[in-house]
Amino acid sequence: MAEEMQNGWDGLLESRIRMHGTHGPRTEPGASTVATPARSRPARILSSSPSHLGLGSSVHPPDRDIRSQHRDEAAPFTLLHRPHLGRAQIDRTTMKISGRTFIVSGGWLTSDFTNSASGLGRACVEDLIKHGANVAILDMNEDGKDLAAELGSSAKFFVCDVLDSSSISKAVEGAAEWAQQTKRPVGGVIPAAGVSTPATVRFCPSMKKKLAWRDADARGPQILDRNGSPFSLDDVDFVLGVNLRGTIDLVRQAVAHIAKSEPDADGERGVVIMVASSAAFDGQKGQISYSASKGAVASMTLPMARDLARHGIRCNTIAPSLFETRMTSAMSGKVRKSLEATFEFPRRAGRPDEFALLARQCIENSMLNGTVIRIDGGSRPSKI
Ligand SMILES: NC(=O)c1ccc[n+]([C@@H]2O[C@H](COP(=O)([O-])OP(=O)(O)OC[C@H]3O[C@@H](n4cnc5c(N)ncnc54)[C@H](O)[C@@H]3O)[C@@H](O)[C@H]2O)c1
Repeated sequence: MAEEMQNGWDGLLESRIRMHGTHGPRTEPGASTVATPARSRPARILSSSPSHLGLGSSVHPPDRDIRSQHRDEAAPFTLLHRPHLGRAQIDRTTMKISGRTFIVSGGWLTSDFTNSASGLGRACVEDLIKHGANVAILDMNEDGKDLAAELGSSAKFFVCDVLDSSSISKAVEGAAEWAQQTKRPVGGVIPAAGVSTPATVRFCPSMKKKLAWRDADARGPQILDRNGSPFSLDDVDFVLGVNLRGTIDLVRQAVAHIAKSEPDADGERGVVIMVASSAAFDGQKGQISYSASKGAVASMTLPMARDLARHGIRCNTIAPSLFETRMTSAMSGKVRKSLEATFEFPRRAGRPDEFALLARQCIENSMLNGTVIRIDGGSRPSKI
């Protein structure tokens, strides 16, 4: 103790941390204090079994538990030494993006009207690259390949249909291989592929071909139509398939790779950022399937963060309201105005770069975990 005190508060702090770790008294070397899951518990998103949640393809999680690594003598606790604290924090923050590979789905479907891709996924890709990351872009639209090529060697496109587990597997494996070649480990996944309501196949004049398309004004079917007949479950299966199952499937396959990467000084390996919607809370008529899918994404944020904590992976969800993307580009002026009128301030649709800014904060700020963040200018729409 006297020796510790000679080194001042910092010496005491450091030696106590060495002795006890950051979360309490130390147990026998190598022993884990993490409670063994009860047999009856459902599968975690990353378990010791290779077929996570039984969704199909096999990906192999590591056995190591990040919390037992915290108790490792070699853990870099000296970073907590006060004189270096500011420096260490800066390093930790920048290292979360720069030098890593992120997997981002969606955002590369060209608008009928602008002939440019402008999704929330794309905005994240551009922002991450600007901050030193490599990004694996996953989208079902192959034209995204040419658009992605404009971003240079920091971006690589992988065709992927999130409704198809093996297609996700191929894309994620490709992304992980690329990460290995470039020595930029996979550090995060943003599953931003999504559909508002079932798409109808329509001819896109600018691209001279048929595309899955849905006018943003067009709502999905109501549970009972005018004649009192129940809606078809096709709507439910499709929207939940893309927005919910597709999100879970991409995340489970991506985190298996993130969990294999070296942890940073905080024991952190990476981040999951899912995309819900204000419709998770304020769904409108005809949005049963969409609201159900986004509500489910919001609801699974905390259990996912809990499952992934022992692997040093955080999980957050962003719930946007109206944003300027292809999904909303076909919206009529009338519908847009009535939606914008529900915003407190600013009274306008959000810009994709504003979404990307929040996504970056979700990556950089280690204390953001297990939470759903609305980004909506204070909009709380009642019935529109
Ligand atoms: N724009 C908004 O106002 C808004 C509001 C709330 C939530 N969201 C959500 O944000 C996410 C991104 O939407 P966006 O606004 O960028 O729209 P977007 O249409 O630009 O992007 C969606 C992307 O998902 C891709 N996609 C669709 N089905 C796919 C599949 N089966 N496999 C692979 N890719 C597929 C499309 O090709 C497209 O590039 C969606 O989940 C959406 O529900 C958007």
